[in-house]
Amino acid sequence: MTQSVLRTGGLARRSFLISGAALVGAALLPRRARADDPPLQLIAAENNVQLLPSPAAPSPLWTYGPQWPLIVRTERGKPFHARLTNKLSDHTAIHWHGIRLPNAMDGVPYVTQPPVKAGETFDYIFTPPDAGTFFFHPHCDTITQLGRGLAGVLIVEEPGDAELFDADVVVVIKDWRLKPDGSFDTLTTDQGAGKAGTFGTRKTVNGLDHADFTVRPGARVRLRVLNVDVTRIVTLAVDGAPAALIATDGNPLDPLPLTPWRLGPAMRADITFDMPREENATVDLSNVWGMTPELLARFHASGEPLPARTDGPPRLTPNAIPQPDIANAERLRVDMSASPASPQLEAWLKETGAPLDAVCRTGRIFWALNRTPWPGQSHEKLPPPLFNLTRGRSYIFEFANATPHPHPMHLHGHTFQVVASSKEKIVPHLADTVLVAPKERIDVAFVADNPGDWMVHCHIVEHQETGMMGYVRVA
Ligand code: C2O
Ligand code: CU
Repeated sequence: MTQSVLRTGGLARRSFLISGAALVGAALLPRRARADDPPLQLIAAENNVQLLPSPAAPSPLWTYGPQWPLIVRTERGKPFHARLTNKLSDHTAIHWHGIRLPNAMDGVPYVTQPPVKAGETFDYIFTPPDAGTFFFHPHCDTITQLGRGLAGVLIVEEPGDAELFDADVVVVIKDWRLKPDGSFDTLTTDQGAGKAGTFGTRKTVNGLDHADFTVRPGARVRLRVLNVDVTRIVTLAVDGAPAALIATDGNPLDPLPLTPWRLGPAMRADITFDMPREENATVDLSNVWGMTPELLARFHASGEPLPARTDGPPRLTPNAIPQPDIANAERLRVDMSASPASPQLEAWLKETGAPLDAVCRTGRIFWALNRTPWPGQSHEKLPPPLFNLTRGRSYIFEFANATPHPHPMHLHGHTFQVVASSKEKIVPHLADTVLVAPKERIDVAFVADNPGDWMVHCHIVEHQETGMMGYVRVA
């Protein structure tokens, strides 16, 4: 199967091919939402997808559409309207990770909206203010729901930026906890949740061993890499052509020659390179985190060469993220630690009869932010916020990791600048999720300009759901 993705208009000359080996169903066919369109239908349901080679059976994924991964493309500044229909037996919701949207659209059950029960629908309507590579996923019992595949890629295009590239491809990294017969294994273990997380047994890229793309010799490629795994950290490296990092978590930066770049769960990187102009040349994207590099994607040069480029890697149009006043920002420390044993919390849960589910936690408590494990030790449903932030003011969060494990820390509703680390020299960049190494302290700066209650949590989902979560209130 070969899937041809053609860009029309002035771009026809630079049409490109994505080889079928990279596709699960029509996963890479862009779906574009427009203001006058009927809503994009996202139907959360069980879908069988072949993830293990036969004779294993297709695996019973939970997805938003028949394909995995689902890729949705829309445009910055255009109203976006998606209708979630829940055909699962559990309740769910959609969190639009990294999008600076109104709080009521943030998709956090019990915090920003009631859960969407089985059989119900919910309309998400917002206008993405920033272009970039984003994704969406549920926010309650995420270990199960994201673990089983409930996630989609949301590409917000910047009008005009598409012309900078000859090819625009998406690489989605996700592992799966599968038994050899294709069915799901237990998605969490105490052993994993209390340490580095429970790893998948089957690693995939776009649902396959690795992705293969065919592009024309000389093509300028934009590679959007998303780590949507619940646990695994990867380190990206490109071999075969000089590559540059052009966006972090969707946010453009001055092109930076690519040196191995870490991507924790939920983090994204946009990379560009020019395909060598020789027919049959290859370029590899690999994960060099472990001892032996792991191939994630391979690009094959084929067809008529495009004219050689003489300019350097292109600069994407920047997003209008408010600039924090770093000199006058208030500094707030977010301590990441193992949880103190929490008999009070256990007692509260028993006493109120709150089902585990009602506070979006799963299983035991292992972790805490500022010594308070989510959902805190309160008799109300929600614990108090970690911090009350004044709307319009600049803040620096100092994420301080007192644990022996790395944690990708995510803040909702805002895009922050990663400004400093106690361990290494940081290239300042914008992000919504930052990987904090063991014993490291990282400063991120932002303007609290978006009113509402915004979650702060580790995106190793087992850590999030066993205590490493809280929220800030912007008012
Ligand atoms: Cu991607 Cu609170 O999550
Ligand atoms: Cu963590």
